[in-house]
Amino acid sequence: MGVMWLQFIAILLFLPHQSREQEINFTLPEQLALFLDRIGDVHRLQAISIVNSRDSISPDYLDGLHQQLRANASMHFQLLPQMTATDVDVHVCFSALQDEDTLYVVFARHSRDPVIQLQAKRARGRRYSKTLFLLKEHESLPVLGEFFKLLWQLQFRSALVVTAQRWAYQMDPYPKMKIKRMKEVSSYDLEEIFPKPNRKNFNGYELHLAVQLDIPNSFWSRDPRNQQLRLDGAGGKIINELMAKLNVTLKVHPLLVNGSRWLNMPAIIDLIASNRMELSPHLCDTLQASTEVDYSYPVRLASRCFMIPLDNQISRTLYVLLPFQWSVWLSVLLILLVLHFFGVRWLVPDSQLWALIGVPGWRLSRSHHHSVLNTVTCYLVLFGVCLIYQLYSTKLTSFLTVTLSHKLPSSLDEILRLPFPILALPLDVELIVGTFGHAEEFRRMFSVTDAQTFATRRINMDTGYIYPISSFRWFFYSVQQRYLKTKRFYFSSLCHGTFAAQFQLRIDSHFKDPLHRFALHVQEAGLLLVWMKESYQSARLGGYIQEFTSAEEFLDDIRPLAFNLLAPAFSLFMCGLLVSLVVFLVEIRPPSCARRSSRNSSSH
Ligand SMILES: *[C@@H]1O[C@H](CO)[C@@H](O)[C@H](O)[C@H]1NC(C)=O
Ligand SMILES: *[C@@H]1O[C@H](CO)[C@@H](O)[C@H](O)[C@H]1NC(C)=O
Ligand SMILES: *[C@@H]1O[C@H](CO)[C@@H](O)[C@H](O)[C@H]1NC(C)=O
Ligand SMILES: *[C@@H]1O[C@H](CO)[C@@H](O)[C@H](O)[C@H]1NC(C)=O
Repeated sequence: MGVMWLQFIAILLFLPHQSREQEINFTLPEQLALFLDRIGDVHRLQAISIVNSRDSISPDYLDGLHQQLRANASMHFQLLPQMTATDVDVHVCFSALQDEDTLYVVFARHSRDPVIQLQAKRARGRRYSKTLFLLKEHESLPVLGEFFKLLWQLQFRSALVVTAQRWAYQMDPYPKMKIKRMKEVSSYDLEEIFPKPNRKNFNGYELHLAVQLDIPNSFWSRDPRNQQLRLDGAGGKIINELMAKLNVTLKVHPLLVNGSRWLNMPAIIDLIASNRMELSPHLCDTLQASTEVDYSYPVRLASRCFMIPLDNQISRTLYVLLPFQWSVWLSVLLILLVLHFFGVRWLVPDSQLWALIGVPGWRLSRSHHHSVLNTVTCYLVLFGVCLIYQLYSTKLTSFLTVTLSHKLPSSLDEILRLPFPILALPLDVELIVGTFGHAEEFRRMFSVTDAQTFATRRINMDTGYIYPISSFRWFFYSVQQRYLKTKRFYFSSLCHGTFAAQFQLRIDSHFKDPLHRFALHVQEAGLLLVWMKESYQSARLGGYIQEFTSAEEFLDDIRPLAFNLLAPAFSLFMCGLLVSLVVFLVEIRPPSCARRSSRNSSSH
């Protein structure tokens, strides 16, 4: 019992003394060196990078620090190679030199020191690494608040700030940014002294999303439960699900740029680069990558092709000629001429072939005899003529029951000969000409327009233009015309590129890694296609797309009674009338002429 009391008193006496002794301040370079050494040891860091701005630290202190870091053989960073960079303008990123297990030490004069921005630029791709900011002066709490907000915007996720060489601060940004003063740094577990760079639970952190229309990837709809705006679309669903998983609260705001609701990628990039938006929910084909933002991994790959108005129906008046090819028509004509001039006129003038076939003007005479050969040849020819006639009439009747169309233009030359202009955005023009060449011909065809006109015309399937479109989007848009008998558009087989559909994020965004992992799962599970099909319904309910079922198309469905079928029948009837009239006129030619011809034939 006595021993225990003694121990207790000893502990009481010993504790404050010990903690005061362990409290760290960095007034001496040895103290900082020792602290860095322990951090390096605990976190098994491979490299250290020390950055300072002018006047933020005395040269003696810096010398001392370097010496201390290398002097002692037991020091963790002792054996590292040393490199000194002085030029501010060198555009080398740390990620090219060091791996991610690096400790960054930044000496700055105050919280607005440009070295912070410089560090952010240089540490692109390494901002989740442990970073220690040492501010020379002590800063008031509101100023520190601003500073941490900047650090959060610059995506330093694992930052520790020490002011005036002794006050240490950390931030806890979830769900509202909080600054944590760390009393007695050394009594903190060194494992936890830097915040964890990747959090799985954002505790309801509010993320403001500016959304523009990009059917089917992103649009907004009303939640039927609470009438709130919610993000929708194939890409929107990915963001919704990911954020639900991360426990992030989404605030959706429709964004108008120059009065247009439709996706304006330069404006979005600008918003992100100027730190006004953290993440863009637009899953969009990256046609021109910007270095001012980061992109997610490609969620899908698609090539861009053309959506071409379907205008290849053959006029019904031409159907009469279509059953035979031109070569067949020519040979038939040739054979008939040969038959007439060689066979009937010259070789066997009394064969009565035309009379047998029923050609008007030729009369069958009964009162004479033929050779057997003559008769057989005559009937063979007759048989051939009947055969051809049967073929013709069968084909013609079968053609009249369907709608015939030309072969679809698919090659570049054929498309360039089409009478439609290509409606496109300036960037599309560049890409298409860059891929296919033929700059002159294309330039004649292009009709360059703004995002809104382009998007609305394309989604309404406005015939009269050819539109560039990705295969994924076509898959969605073409569902609109599924009930049409004669479709409005077809998808060209002429395509270019494979373009990656990606989200745009702030550089080194907090959401980048979770998004990468999540997109991978989504892709593996094939959810993207499922979500796209689901969003078709909500896009239709939201009035963004429509299904074409016009009255004309309904008439087409009940074909036998349709008027447009009567027209060819009527024209055929008129044609028949005309032919009978001609025959009739030939039949009632002057009797003298007929008599002469019959006398001629009977005299032989
Ligand atoms: C810093 O720590 C050293 C030793 O731990 C101590 O002697 C010194 O007084 C401290 N300085 C301040 C300003 O607390
Ligand atoms: C080297 O550092 C250790 C602590 O890491 C310390 O105990 C030792 O005294 C130092 N030796 C020298 C020569 O500074
Ligand atoms: C999400 O965040 C809220 C707000 O902090 C919290 O109450 C809730 O427990 C969190 N949900 C999960 C699943 O962690
Ligand atoms: C808005 O319109 C103006 C004038 O047409 C143009 O200069 C500006 O670039 C447009 N802004 C965006 C973000 O497109």
